[in-house]
Amino acid sequence: MFSLFKRKKVEPVEEPPKKVEIFFDDSIAKAILVEIKKEFGLDYERQEYITFRKLERFALKHDIYDFKKLSAMIQSSQTLKKELINMLTVGETYFYRELGHFEILSKHMEQHRVSKILCAPSSSGEEVYSILLYLFEKQKRVDFDIIGIDINSDALESAKEACYSQRSVSKLPSELLSRHFEKRGDGFCVKQNLKKSATFKYQNVFDDSFETLGKFDIIFCRNMLIYFNDNEKKLLLKKFRNQLSDNGILFLGHADIAFIPEGYTKKHTKDGSYYIKSFSNI
Ligand SMILES: C[S@@+](CC[C@H](N)C(=O)[O-])C[C@H]1O[C@@H](n2cnc3c(N)ncnc32)[C@H](O)[C@@H]1O
Repeated sequence: MFSLFKRKKVEPVEEPPKKVEIFFDDSIAKAILVEIKKEFGLDYERQEYITFRKLERFALKHDIYDFKKLSAMIQSSQTLKKELINMLTVGETYFYRELGHFEILSKHMEQHRVSKILCAPSSSGEEVYSILLYLFEKQKRVDFDIIGIDINSDALESAKEACYSQRSVSKLPSELLSRHFEKRGDGFCVKQNLKKSATFKYQNVFDDSFETLGKFDIIFCRNMLIYFNDNEKKLLLKKFRNQLSDNGILFLGHADIAFIPEGYTKKHTKDGSYYIKSFSNI
């Protein structure tokens, strides 16, 4: 059987494009930043406007059209939260930054046993490998543990890979570059003998689990405190003091604090300044 009536071809109806409401309410963005500050200490109050716009771009990239939804999504997805933190915390770092500190450390090691060094934060590893390089060149051995921690998981992945751009290694003397790096494409990768001495770990310095890392003879905390307000800086410096061995040294970036932290004495040398524990007034 076939129909006498010819069926009319039905054309697919094209749906009119849905109109999306885009509404970025800065008061909700502020609330998101308050939560981030509570968890990671990151204080964007002084760069609020630009950070709100960064949040906006981040939301749009994920097809999220209002901050309320963004806030809910960050709370329900650890992956999204990590990605947001990675976006917010991209920081500049390079080999042999504030080099004088490494010379202070090398001299300190002539008189004191150093078995554990912490880089908090390590970002993509340049600081950790700079320390290894510098000390290896001076002492021809690496007989200490060095750990780099950070909350930027992308940076930590790069640290583990240990391959860097020309710009990142531009302050290294060329003989060190050829001795300790392999050329790969346009980049420079740290050779295995130094690379294997470094460990990297995701760790928020404000999290209680930070204490489980144990005591350190040396703590580098350079160019991170600028993200925090004075109260958080003080809180963190107290935490570091608890984790520093009695003969330990703390190195801060030269622009990191504008006060002498409680429980420390600041030492000045021609190579730069550093902090040791003081035992009075505690
Ligand atoms: C500018 S980099 C500093 C890297 C290196 N110390 C240097 O001086 O070149 C700052 C790093 O601090 C990290 N950071 C910010 N808040 C942190 C936190 N609460 N815990 C651990 N790392 C944090 C960021 O992810 C970023 O990678």
